[in-house]
Amino acid sequence: MSTIEKALAKQKTKAPATNDVVTEEKNTESNESVSVNPAPAPTEKFDIFIDNEKLTERGFLHTGGNTTNQQEEFRHIKRKLINNAFGPASKTLNNSNLIMVSSANPNEGKTFVSINLALSIALEQDKTVLLIDADVLRPSIHRELEFENSTGLLDYLCGDTDDVSQIIYSTNLNNLKIMPAGKAHHLTNELLASDRMATLSKELSSRYPDRLVIFDCPPLLGVTETPVLASLVGQAAVVVEESKTKLETIKRATSSLNEDLAIGFVLNKTIKTSKDVYGYYGYGYGRKR
Ligand SMILES: Nc1ncnc2c1ncn2[C@@H]1O[C@H](COP(=O)(O)OP(=O)(O)O)[C@@H](O)[C@H]1O
Ligand SMILES: [Mg+2]
Repeated sequence: MSTIEKALAKQKTKAPATNDVVTEEKNTESNESVSVNPAPAPTEKFDIFIDNEKLTERGFLHTGGNTTNQQEEFRHIKRKLINNAFGPASKTLNNSNLIMVSSANPNEGKTFVSINLALSIALEQDKTVLLIDADVLRPSIHRELEFENSTGLLDYLCGDTDDVSQIIYSTNLNNLKIMPAGKAHHLTNELLASDRMATLSKELSSRYPDRLVIFDCPPLLGVTETPVLASLVGQAAVVVEESKTKLETIKRATSSLNEDLAIGFVLNKTIKTSKDVYGYYGYGYGRKR
């Protein structure tokens, strides 16, 4: 049974009738600080303000106050990613701190998962995270977090700027930086598979060894550049919309990924309450090999 089959089977046996969340493992050794989104001091300078209230409104993880089920779930996924990135497994992975988030098809929740993972990692005291909008044809991180899609990844890839620090923006969360998609370009997708992208990935992986980099990527099916991107990263979190994406589709989508990638599956949109509101629940995670 493949990891995803196991995860789906487990999810079926555990699925609650309501929006309750079942977590496999409580995290008892969290390094998270209690509240990480304090009102910024007037003198503090940052480029992007992440508003906790807006995050809540949009169903994203809260970054302060009470622990929610959603936080617990992302904490669990985050632990796996951090362990792969910096633990013993990191020695067998190339660029273990670079993580792609993708899915077979659009709309399965790549951006939702990317943002929540980044927020969750930003809560760590000793880790920083860079969230990159690499879904360059359908960029949406700027819309979800409500900031301007200014100079970003595409501007760097097409040579408009050579300075990586110019396309990395600080936020009011000390540990979170963001790289927007940047200006659309007629070779948008091709640029993702360019040598410049490979060089940038290497640099991002090595420059800050305690930093996790999350790439919100295009889907795996129908975008030939996504598997090329996969060859630049050490880990992939494949988002699967539960009850919608067929196992065959998932297999087809992941068959193009390189063998030495650590692949995890995130089951998304798994619960619908009577109000038809999505709940987030469930995940399966494992190495492909
Ligand atoms: N677990 C979830 N709970 C609630 N809404 C979700 C969840 N996952 C995704 N969505 C919503 O579904 C839509 C598609 O998700 P998105 O992350 O933009 O997909 P993708 O990036 O894969 O195209 C968005 O409106 C998003 O807010
Ligand atoms: Mg998206």
